Amino acid sequence: MVKSSSLKSPKKEEVIDQTIETLLQPKGWDEYIGQAKVKKSLRIILEAARRRGEPVDHLLFYGQAGLGKTTLAKLVALEMGAPLRITSGPAIEKAGDLAAVLSHLEENEILFIDEAHRLNRIIEEVLYPAMESRKIHIIIGKGPGARTISLDLPAFTLVAATTRVNLLSAPLRSRFGATFKLDYYDEKDIEVIIKRSANILGVNIDPAATSVLARAARFTPRTANRLLKRTRDYLEVHGGEVITEETAQKTLGVLEIDSLGLESHDQIFLNTIIEKFNGGPVGVGTIAAALNEDKGIIEDVYEPYLMRLGFLRRTPAGRVVEKAAFQHLGKQPSQQLL
Ligand code: ADE
Repeated sequence: MVKSSSLKSPKKEEVIDQTIETLLQPKGWDEYIGQAKVKKSLRIILEAARRRGEPVDHLLFYGQAGLGKTTLAKLVALEMGAPLRITSGPAIEKAGDLAAVLSHLEENEILFIDEAHRLNRIIEEVLYPAMESRKIHIIIGKGPGARTISLDLPAFTLVAATTRVNLLSAPLRSRFGATFKLDYYDEKDIEVIIKRSANILGVNIDPAATSVLARAARFTPRTANRLLKRTRDYLEVHGGEVITEETAQKTLGVLEIDSLGLESHDQIFLNTIIEKFNGGPVGVGTIAAALNEDKGIIEDVYEPYLMRLGFLRRTPAGRVVEKAAFQHLGKQPSQQLL
């Protein structure tokens, strides 16, 4: 059973999409595609804990958004037959919020904290004894009369996820029994995920359409499934029995996504470096100022996919747009790349 500690109520279409999302999530390791190294190591940890009849050690997952950190946490709970409680760094504002979540955990429950880099230091300090010795220390009162009471917690597993692992404090990072980096998926694995999802949704898709969607999916299952759902909508409205290459391309056109999954913000980013800074090198702070965008967003959201595509390089002198990007955008590469 999944319990959520978030108070925000989603809009209706989000509810429908989230229900489909749940439907598409793998229900066991045999259904889980890709991330071979993570899967191999995690399966050993879970199997050993199961054999010993112990809760799993605390786990940390990090990597780009959409790579399936929540999916993995759900899979850990399913595989362990343990209840799962989901919350996130921004939802835990005060130490008391975390104390309330922790003190209501059931025996062997898995507590999933998404966006863990957004927990503040005071809250992190409540977590340390909870992770290490299953205790929380609560301070009651103020000044000289203040007292600390300690509460024992049930055995539990903390699964934390973050897109920005270097923002977690070293003491918190060191308290996880295992840390896993999720990488971008191979295009072939994305194709398998699309075929599996189409099958679950009961929609026919031909191989050429599968590769068109996989190429535009930014090597992430979440984007792949979203593109599949929108293509299925297109088919529903325009009629037809099978998602063809043409259906896939027309859907991408409507969504203003190009063949490699670039959206307008990606194109503006590359075009700014090309046109205003002669393709680079240019410092990320300068690009951020030119785009009126946050530097952290550029580093964590814009750049990783462009680097994975081989469109962008980070150098000591600044960012450089690669020849492949010029070619994709139909532009003449800058002199130094020729
Ligand atoms: N849906 C989302 N991520 C998946 C994965 N890794 N394998 C199968 N289906 C998925």
